[in-house]
Amino acid sequence: MTTPTALAEPLMTTEERRWLLPVYPHAPIEPIRGEGVMLTTRDGRELIDFYGGHAVALLGYSHPRLLATLREQAATLFFQSNVVPLEVRARAGKRLVEFGPEGLTRAFLVNSGAEAVENALRLAFRKTGRTRILALEGAFHGRTAAAGALTWGSAKWYGFPRTPFDLTFIPRGDLDALERELAVGDVAALIAEPVQGQAGAYALGAEWLQAARELTRRASSLLVLDEIQCGLGRSGAPFAAQLYGVTPDLLTMAKGLAGGFPAGAVLVSDEIARILSGGELGTTFGGGPMACALIETVIDVIEQEDLTANVRRVSQYLRETCVTGPVVDVQGEGFLLGLRTRRPAKEVYLELIDHGIFSGTSGDPHIVRLLPPLTLREEHVDVLAKALAELRP
Ligand SMILES: Cc1ncc(COP(=O)(O)O)c(C=O)c1O
Repeated sequence: MTTPTALAEPLMTTEERRWLLPVYPHAPIEPIRGEGVMLTTRDGRELIDFYGGHAVALLGYSHPRLLATLREQAATLFFQSNVVPLEVRARAGKRLVEFGPEGLTRAFLVNSGAEAVENALRLAFRKTGRTRILALEGAFHGRTAAAGALTWGSAKWYGFPRTPFDLTFIPRGDLDALERELAVGDVAALIAEPVQGQAGAYALGAEWLQAARELTRRASSLLVLDEIQCGLGRSGAPFAAQLYGVTPDLLTMAKGLAGGFPAGAVLVSDEIARILSGGELGTTFGGGPMACALIETVIDVIEQEDLTANVRRVSQYLRETCVTGPVVDVQGEGFLLGLRTRRPAKEVYLELIDHGIFSGTSGDPHIVRLLPPLTLREEHVDVLAKALAELRP
C-alpha cells in the first residue's frame, strides 16, 4: 500500500494549474496512460478505473476497434461540415436510431450533452408552443443557459442574470406534483434522467417513469429523457428507456457516444421530426466524420461484445459482493451505481485510490459513484470488494 492520500486539495502542483482557469477541484492522481480498464499514473501507480472519465470511456482505453476507426477515418476524411451529405454520417444516424427506443426515428448530431439538451428543449417549445419546462429535484442537465437552468442547485454557479424560460422543479417520485403542474396547461416538456447521475446514481424506476409518460401524454406535454450519463448500454439495456419500457418524445445522449471523442445526439420522434425544415437547427462540428465513424464503431462493439449482458451480470455481482467495509447499500442501475457509505464518501473515495481503485463522488455526500467502462469484469469487482473490506467501516 502507498502512503495514504491527504484530504487536502490540490495534492499536486501541476503545470495545468499555471495556465488554465482553476475551476476544477482535481483528483490526487495524474493519469498518463490507459489500457483496458486500467490507468497508469505519472508516479507509476496502476488503478482500476471505476469512474471512466465521467462515463465517457465507455469502451475503456485503447480499444483496438476504436483506434483502428480513428486511424482509418482520419486518413480518409478528417472533417466536412453539415453543408455536404456524408455516407459515414448517414451510417451513424441509422445505427443510433436502430439502437434507440422504437418510435424515435431521427437523430440530430451535436458535440456535447448540454448542446443536446439545449436542442431538445428548443424542439419541445417549437412543437408545443408552450412556455414552461418541468425538471426534477436532484437533476443535472449541463452548464449552458438552458441546461444549467434545469440543473438542481445551479444558482451557486449559474452566472446568467436570469433563466431563459419558465421552469419548475418537482420532487422525485411525486406524481401528484407532476399532475398538478401539468394541469396548468403551459408545460412544453418534463425532462428527467432515468437514473440521476450527479444526484448519486438515483434510479427513478420503471413505475414512476411509465406513470410520468402517461401523464405527460394526457396533458399533451412532451417527455425528454436525458440519457447523457445512463445511456448507451450503461443501464444494462441500450438505453434506460428500453430497460424501463418508456418511449420518450426526445432522448439526449453524449459522453461515451463516440468513446471519448466529443459527440452528442438527440433522438426525436417522427411527429417532431415532421415539423422541422431547413435551417432550424445547426452546429459546425456536430456530425463530423471522425465522431460519426466512432459512433458507428461504439455501437458495433457494444453489440458484438454483448456489453449490455456484461453490464447486467457484473453489476449484479458488484451488488452481491461490495456491501462491505464502509458500504451499507448499492443503488442505481447497471454501471451507474452509487455505493452508500456510512462515513463521508470523500474519505472512502480517497482511501480507495490508495488501494488501486479510482472511483467518483456525487452531490450526495454519502455516495461513492461508479461509472466504469462497459468492459469491466468480475475480477475487477473482486479487487474493489477486497479493498472495501479492508477499509474502516
Ligand atoms: C445527465 C447529464 N446531462 C447533461 C450533462 C451535460 O453534458 P456535457 O458536460 O457534455 O455538456 C451531463 C454531464 O455530466 C449529465 O450527466
